[in-house]
Amino acid sequence: MLPGQVQRVLSGMRPTGRLHLGHYHGVLKNWLKLQNEYECFFFVADWHALTTHYEDPRGFEESVWDMVIDWLAVGVDPDSATLFIQSRVPEHAELHVLLSMITPLSWLERVPTYKDQQLKLKDKDLSTYGFLGYPLLQSADILIYRAGTVPVGEDQVAHVEITREVARRFNYLYGREPGYEDLCRAAIKKMGKKAGKLFDELRAGWLERGDSVALGTARELVEKQMNITLGDRERLLGFLEGGGRQILLEPQALLTAAAKMPGLDGQKMSKSYNNTIGLRESPEEITKKLRTMPTDPQRVRRTDPGDPDKCPVWQFHLVYSGADVKQWVQEGCRSAAIGCLECKQPVVDAVLAELKPIQERAAALATDPTLVRNVIAKGCRHAREVADVTLQDVRRSMGLEYN
Ligand code: TRP
Ligand code: SF4
Repeated sequence: MLPGQVQRVLSGMRPTGRLHLGHYHGVLKNWLKLQNEYECFFFVADWHALTTHYEDPRGFEESVWDMVIDWLAVGVDPDSATLFIQSRVPEHAELHVLLSMITPLSWLERVPTYKDQQLKLKDKDLSTYGFLGYPLLQSADILIYRAGTVPVGEDQVAHVEITREVARRFNYLYGREPGYEDLCRAAIKKMGKKAGKLFDELRAGWLERGDSVALGTARELVEKQMNITLGDRERLLGFLEGGGRQILLEPQALLTAAAKMPGLDGQKMSKSYNNTIGLRESPEEITKKLRTMPTDPQRVRRTDPGDPDKCPVWQFHLVYSGADVKQWVQEGCRSAAIGCLECKQPVVDAVLAELKPIQERAAALATDPTLVRNVIAKGCRHAREVADVTLQDVRRSMGLEYN
């Protein structure tokens, strides 16, 4: 992190239209927590959606607004987080093209999602330049805000990893201005004899022995120096790690640890499995879906005892029910004292209660398109300002500042 900088969080979501309980429990609840603790940027990754849906972009517009409405309806707060649409912040594209100059093709080819997705989406021709560049576009998204934390699912960790590598390479190539070592040496001198010596020792500890405690101590030492300039500080933090000045910040992935929301069939809830409960589905539809969802296949008759461990309904109780209800299910199911519809009722009630306020807010937002568009317009404006700061530094470092 650059000295004195608030930790920034950034995450993007492809516009998939209306969201479901899987998004809510798996991603959005986490955003709600983060928005109160950090400076957050959340955006609609419409360019990323184009990499796989370039043949059928119609419907994007509706999907984008539907998704933003759902974000707001669950409580993502535009006064706490900056909400924007990727394609409305063209700075991402400029950074993408600049990063593409220094990114070896092999780095992109070996990202696991590249081959996986090509195999999985066989009906689409994904041998495009844009699709290969998918992770690098994501790197630009992240690096342009100097985000330190990127909440993502497991499948996206490799993209954060390549982002770190790209940032490191960038800083190595462009973060060492002419006379860099001399400038660092001069800055160390300014720290005074004792602190300077300590810095050298700690730096050696990290670079020669990989001592991460030494690295942490050295960072603190640099941060608390009063006699050095901001430029010195950034230089030294880079020097400490053996690279250049940290023009771009290496981000960390924050794995969304939240228990995966099960779908109606017990697999992970996902549109492609057709097992979702949409946040804006009517109470009647939701009730019907839950009442007809499968249960322990061994429990054919009401009198057959069942096993919650083999039943997707139990997965819902784990998300929604308290200890008392869970005990009631365990005992009632195994002894055939309760029927499956009876067992499902507390889940139905809990899901409907959870969604009621969300649906009310979504309905109000859906009738006020201007409000939603204003939120995004304001977010885009702010995002562009922040992005521009990084981009100017990047252009300057790459020799593209013409005065
Ligand atoms: N690729 C991500 C996904 O499919 C979406 C995304 C795009 C993203 N840019 C990002 C996520 C930057 C985190 C940070 O889920
Ligand atoms: Fe599943 Fe509940 Fe029926 Fe047991 S009683 S099989 S846990 S729905």
